[in-house]
Amino acid sequence: MFVRGFLLALAGAACEKFMANTILVGAQWGDEGKGKIIDVLTETAGVVVRYAGGNNAGHTVIVKGKKTVLHLIPSGILRKNKLCVIGNGVVLDPIGLVSEMEGLKKNGIKITPRNFVLSETAHVVFPYHRELDGARELLKGKNKIGTTKRGIGPAYGDKAARVGLRVNDLIDSAKLRVKLEARIKENNAVLKSLGAKPLSFKQVFAEYNKAGQYLKPFVQNTVVLLHEQIRHGAEVLFEGAQGTFLDIDHGTYPFVTSSNTTAGGACTGSGVPPHRMDRVVGVMKAYTTRVGEGPLPTENAEISDLLHGMGREFGATTGRARRCGWFDSVATRHATMVNGIDDLAITNLDGLDTVENIKVCVAYRHGKTQYDYMPNDAQVLAECVPVYVEFEGWRTPTDKCKTFKQLPKKAQAYLKAIAELTNANLYIASVGPGRDQTIFV
Ligand code: GDP
Ligand code: IMO
Ligand code: MG
Repeated sequence: MFVRGFLLALAGAACEKFMANTILVGAQWGDEGKGKIIDVLTETAGVVVRYAGGNNAGHTVIVKGKKTVLHLIPSGILRKNKLCVIGNGVVLDPIGLVSEMEGLKKNGIKITPRNFVLSETAHVVFPYHRELDGARELLKGKNKIGTTKRGIGPAYGDKAARVGLRVNDLIDSAKLRVKLEARIKENNAVLKSLGAKPLSFKQVFAEYNKAGQYLKPFVQNTVVLLHEQIRHGAEVLFEGAQGTFLDIDHGTYPFVTSSNTTAGGACTGSGVPPHRMDRVVGVMKAYTTRVGEGPLPTENAEISDLLHGMGREFGATTGRARRCGWFDSVATRHATMVNGIDDLAITNLDGLDTVENIKVCVAYRHGKTQYDYMPNDAQVLAECVPVYVEFEGWRTPTDKCKTFKQLPKKAQAYLKAIAELTNANLYIASVGPGRDQTIFV
């Protein structure tokens, strides 16, 4: 009996080892609570990698009541002895990164090249990217995207156009001087034509060269590093930023960000191939939110007012009020398909604690057509009318529940139903922003 138990435990451990590398993605429009879930899952992972986006992201982690918002640094940084990696797929604002590192250090968090590294091939965000982002939004007027104005679109644009500067250029003063001067010259002409102020090369160079030298000790070939880590048995957690419907290919284009935020992006954005990935965890709220413009079929004033009234759902990066709506299972089912989501972490269940009748969207109607998947045309999606089913609310606080059984029966039924509609396993239910407000189902 003892031997069998031992072998099973060993098999379990081996199996767990096999289920090592996890991609965590947002299954909605961003801000699903990825930061919180990454922080929880990092307890057992060795390495955490950001693979896409830039400091447009804002990932909130609350530990012992203390709130930290991370923009570029992986959310694993709050735990000791975890290797945090910024992968090649990220666009990196060096000034923002240095200030984030300094802020964390002031709060007693250790950041050294032993626990934090960044890819030499990540692209760099410069002030002309931010200026262009702002100027283009102004030009679009009421058709604006509602970007975070962090220069993300123009930086990825330069990467695709093969005129971007990478971290390797940033940390080499001589290369930076030559390449930056040419880029500023070209971009100043564009900025002037858009009515924006041109930039001073001297000033930008001084500032970015200083940041580059600060960051130099942290720069590595992260592809080789990650493969070494995996070979030595490290469990890697890939921290998605933004959400499925902000993906440049699979989102509600053009109201999207400029990277592949979905699970495939974890491979291209880190250099770890698909067959080394073992599991995809999708994070989604028990309702829906979106910040910025673009279609949101289940948007609803009642739930928006309720959540904002509770002081919730304000953007972690820009402070903007997030648009809120009912849970949209057409969207989340689509997210399962695109990302290959195995397991679900459903957050903010407690946000629905006082709602009498909870609606869940199960299809869209557009004229005579009924959709059970997301139509690709943002205009069509904006015109879709949700088909709802209703759930009776539990009207009991859930934030102190520690196990699935302790949750009100109606909350249990709601969680099971939305997981089933999403077509993935219910893995975590989150009932508050803290680490201890996490129920493993
Ligand atoms: P991320 O971008 O996906 O990491 O999400 P954000 O940090 O931008 O937004 C999620 C917000 O929800 C943050 O304020 C979190 O602290 C908070 N949060 C996460 N999970 C829960 C939960 O289960 N309940 C409550 N009340 N807040 C949560
Ligand atoms: P996290 O990682 C929510 C949105 C912006 C805008 C669109 C394009 O915290 O979930 P961009 O600045 O990327 O060009 O803006 O994408 N957006 C996010 N919304 N959460 C985010 O990140 C977001 N990052 C970008 O509001 O609608
Ligand atoms: Mg966020």
